[in-house]
Amino acid sequence: MSRLFKASVIENRQVIKNHFLLTLHPLVKIGKPKPGNFFMISVDNCLDPLLKRPFSIHRWLGRDFQVLYRVTGKGTSILSNRKPGDILEIIGPLGNAFPSLRSDNKIIMVAGGLGIAPILGLAETINKYRPLCFYGARTHEELLCIDELISLGIEPVISTDDGSLGEKGNIVDVLNKYISSQSFKALPCLYACGPEPMLIALSDLAKKSNLKGYIALEQNMACGLGTCLGCVVNTTDGYKRVCREGPVFPINEVIWE
Ligand SMILES: Cc1cc2nc3c(=O)[nH]c(=O)nc-3n(C[C@H](O)[C@H](O)[C@H](O)COP(=O)(O)OP(=O)(O)OC[C@H]3O[C@@H](n4cnc5c(N)ncnc54)[C@H](O)[C@@H]3O)c2cc1C
Ligand code: FES
Repeated sequence: MSRLFKASVIENRQVIKNHFLLTLHPLVKIGKPKPGNFFMISVDNCLDPLLKRPFSIHRWLGRDFQVLYRVTGKGTSILSNRKPGDILEIIGPLGNAFPSLRSDNKIIMVAGGLGIAPILGLAETINKYRPLCFYGARTHEELLCIDELISLGIEPVISTDDGSLGEKGNIVDVLNKYISSQSFKALPCLYACGPEPMLIALSDLAKKSNLKGYIALEQNMACGLGTCLGCVVNTTDGYKRVCREGPVFPINEVIWE
């Protein structure tokens, strides 16, 4: 159940340049979020910026939770200056979640850059299924959470655009090579989050290889509550709101424009 609540900042730590890990302590008990859910967070208590910003649940710590974010504009820049003890207004958990798994299919998680934020939380809940993880970033410095994945028993297959770690090139090409080299009893199911070009390439691969799966979209949002229609995407089933019907969609459903 989603609700409006206040949370105090426990920690807001820079993990690499422009990337921060925010740990929040809700001041009331909130519903346990599922991987794929997100929160709308007021980055400050003043009216500028007025709109809350959406962030995926990264890790649920029992009562506290974490958000992993990149400074991209005004809101995230202000958020990066929040200090322990600051109180933030939040709505959530919101949106749908990555659906439950069918155990006969191999799970392949695919993360591009900061797309690892919800994928790590997903990995924590499904590591008993021994999922594979394909993870690409621009350079090795931008690969986050590798130790956390390894501690879950998941050794990620890595690529970087500049070849500084793992295969040189994009992660969908690496996944394509892997899929072409395997014969599966049941086709694997993809669970992905990352930049739009990665998701488009992954959708093409899914079509070509007849794979099913789910992608988490990160559309700009204003209300986050389903009322402004500012976040709609075109799908094979008509226009859908990323904040309400998403952010997780079947990979073959989104019509890229
Ligand atoms: C479901 C979801 C999950 C996400 N998870 C993460 C995550 O885990 N980590 C992460 O780093 N990022 C995540 N993002 C992206 C994150 O929300 C954006 O990076 C963040 O909103 C950028 O805010 P900004 O103010 O810094 O940037 P800006 O570019 O200043 O603002 C971002 C957007 O906010 C809206 N906006 C700003 N001002 C106005 C205005 N005056 N009127 C109307 N709209 C306005 C617009 O849509 C604008 O494009 C997620 C996005 C979604 C939708
Ligand atoms: S952000 Fe307003 S309807 Fe989705």
